[in-house]
Amino acid sequence: MRNCKTYMIRTYGCQMNELDSEIMTGQLHQKGLVEASSEAEADLILFNTCSIRDLAERKVLGKIGQLGRKRVKRPIIGVTGCMAMAKKDSLFKKVPHIDFILGTNNITDLSEVLDNLLDTGIKQVRIEDKFEDNLDYLIASRKNKLSAYVSIIRGCDKYCTYCVVPYTRGKEVSRPFASIKEEVTDLAAKGCKEITLLGQNVNSYGKDQPDWKIRFHDLIYELDKIDGIERIRFMTSHPVDITKDLMMAIRDVPSACEFIHFPIQAGSSRILKKMHRIYTLEEYLEKVDLLRKIVPNATLGTDIIVGFPTETDEEFEMTYNIFKQIDYSLAFLYTYSPRNGTPAKRWKDDVPEKVKEERLQKLYSLYEMQLNKQMQQLIGTSLEILVTGRNKNNYLTGKSRCFRKVVYQGDDSHIGTLQTVTVTGFHHQTLLASQA
Ligand code: SAH
Ligand code: SF4
Ligand code: F3S
Repeated sequence: MRNCKTYMIRTYGCQMNELDSEIMTGQLHQKGLVEASSEAEADLILFNTCSIRDLAERKVLGKIGQLGRKRVKRPIIGVTGCMAMAKKDSLFKKVPHIDFILGTNNITDLSEVLDNLLDTGIKQVRIEDKFEDNLDYLIASRKNKLSAYVSIIRGCDKYCTYCVVPYTRGKEVSRPFASIKEEVTDLAAKGCKEITLLGQNVNSYGKDQPDWKIRFHDLIYELDKIDGIERIRFMTSHPVDITKDLMMAIRDVPSACEFIHFPIQAGSSRILKKMHRIYTLEEYLEKVDLLRKIVPNATLGTDIIVGFPTETDEEFEMTYNIFKQIDYSLAFLYTYSPRNGTPAKRWKDDVPEKVKEERLQKLYSLYEMQLNKQMQQLIGTSLEILVTGRNKNNYLTGKSRCFRKVVYQGDDSHIGTLQTVTVTGFHHQTLLASQA
C-alpha cells in the first residue's frame, strides 16, 4: 500500500476553487494528513483545476505531465475542480499517471476515494452532476483568519454562450440561510472580520427556493447583525440580477462594502446578445446610473472578453469607450477562448489571435492610465482599511473597502483591526498612507 501522510493542494481558477480547496484541506487534516513542506515531499498532490480558458487547462496539464516524467517516487495525483468535470475520465487517457478524479459536486467523497485508492490500487473517478447537500463547510481549514470566503450559492443557470461554468458546476443551488448563518457566526467567534459571499451569480440567491422567501439583499441585512463581522463583500454578480434592493442594502448596511463586480463583458448590444448576456448596453448603463445615484461612492469591477466571434473593430471600440466612460476600479480582461460543449464553440473563432491580442493590449493600456488617475485622486483622502499583516518591508498592509491595497507604518496592535489612514502616495497599484 502506498504511503499517504502528507499532501499539497495546487489551486487554479476562481475563489470558488480556493474555498473548495480549503474544504478539502480540512478533510485531509481530519484524516491525519499534514501539509508537505515542498512538492517533492508530498505523498499526495491534488490539482484543483479551472477550465475557463484554454490556457488555464494547459497550465495544469503541463504541470501534471512534468510530475509524471520527473519523479522517481511519484506522488498520488488527484484532479478535481472544473477540468475534472469538463474532461471526466478522458483525463486518464491524456495523463495516465493521474490516480483519481473528483468532480466539483463530489468533494465530500475525497476521504473515501483516497481510502479506496490506497486499499485497492485501482484508479478512482467520482463525478456527479447532482449537487451534494451534505457538504460540510465548517470543516474548511483557512490560512487567512481575518477574511473568509463563504459560499451561498453554487452553480450557474445563465448559460452565457462562451462559458463552461454551467457545465462544470451544475445548476444553481442556494445554500440554506441557517447553514450560512451558522458558518458566519462560527467564523466571527474565531476572529474573522470580513466575509466574501461567493457564488457564480450571488444575486440569484434564493430564486431556486421561492418558499424560503429570502433574497440576496436580505442576506446582507441578516449577516450584518452577527457580532464581529465588520465587512461584507460578495462576488460575482450578473448585471441582470443586480437589484435596487441590493443597491439600497449597500447604502444602508454599515458592513456592506461599496464595491460591486458588475461584469459587462462587451460594449456592443449585438455582441452581448450573441453572448446571451440577456441585457443590452442601454440596460446595463441604466443600472450603473441607478447605482451611482443610490451609492455615489460605489466603485465598480468588471470582466471583459475581447475577440468574441464576429466582433468587429467598431464593436471593440464600443467596448473601449464604455470602459473609459465607466472608469472601473478593478478589471479582468480576456481574449476569447473557445470551450468544448459551449454554443459559441460551434461558431467560427474568426477574430485572429493577433487582433485579439492587440485589442487586449489596448484595453490594458487604458486600464493602467485610469488606475493611475484613480490612485492620484485618492491622495489626501481617508480610507478605512482592514489591517491584515506586514509586507516584506515591514509596513502594515491591508485593503480598503473598495479593494485597494494600502501600506503604512504602524504598530502591531493594528493587525486584525479596522484603521483609518490618509493616503500620501502610491507605487504601482499599492497606496502608501500614514496614520490619520
Ligand atoms: N460568474 C462570473 C464569472 C465566471 S468566469 C460572472 O458571470 O461574472 C470569469 C470570467 O471569465 C467571465 O466573466 C468572463 O469574462 C471570462 N470568461 C468566461 N469564459 C470565457 C471564455 N470562453 N473565453 C474568455 N474568457 C472567458
Ligand atoms: Fe459563466 Fe455567464 Fe454563468 Fe458567469 S453568468 S458563470 S459568465 S455562464
Ligand atoms: Fe475556473 Fe471553474 Fe472557477 S472554470 S473560474 S474554477 S468555476
